[in-house]
Amino acid sequence: MTKLNDLSSPLAFLKTRKSGSVKALGLPGPNPGEISEILDIAVRVPDHGKLTPWRFVLFEGAARADIGQVFAERWKALHPEHGEDSLAFQRGLFLRAPVVIVVISTAGPHVKIPEWEQLMSSAAVCYNIVLAATAMGFDAQWQSDWVAYDPVALAAIGVKESERVAGIICIGTATAPLEDRPRPDPQAFLTRWVKA
Ligand SMILES: Cc1cc2nc3c(=O)[nH]c(=O)nc-3n(C[C@H](O)[C@H](O)[C@H](O)COP(=O)(O)O)c2cc1C
Repeated sequence: MTKLNDLSSPLAFLKTRKSGSVKALGLPGPNPGEISEILDIAVRVPDHGKLTPWRFVLFEGAARADIGQVFAERWKALHPEHGEDSLAFQRGLFLRAPVVIVVISTAGPHVKIPEWEQLMSSAAVCYNIVLAATAMGFDAQWQSDWVAYDPVALAAIGVKESERVAGIICIGTATAPLEDRPRPDPQAFLTRWVKA
């Protein structure tokens, strides 16, 4: 069986990297120094035009429960038929990991750099956070969920109308063994271009 998140070499790591799951993510999470290191790595991404078209909102400690109150209230307004279990789940949405980093794309129209390229840079930021946290021995999952698309939840997080959530990155330590999933065969997606 392949050892997952094998940190013995950069290549071994990339070949065995596996996300954690918020369904089983507990303590410890990264401390302030480690979060700072993760963010230093996060911004080391390709960024056409050096526009830095992204920013972060960090949730840790009590902030995770505080935002959960807003999520639950909004959920109740959207789904009045749902019971207390469902509301409790929304209240605990950001409590599923010790540290949650929301990556916000600030991409917009630009004279030279297409917005699409700016958006892709924020995806690279999200993945770098997952890589950095995992390489440091934590587990991480790139999430989105309804709060990444709901205007009331977005406003509560602090996302402006001109911005978009690229990812909600949950970081902690897996409380259950990671299980890999079958990986696609890249050859099945490969076409060799030949001159017509
Ligand atoms: C933009 C984006 C949003 C995602 N949102 C969710 C989500 O809301 N819930 C979820 O379970 N997985 C979500 N995923 C998938 C997980 O991040 C990840 O792909 C999955 O845990 C498999 O792990 P792997 O990285 O080991 O393949 C999302 C992935 C991406 C790229």
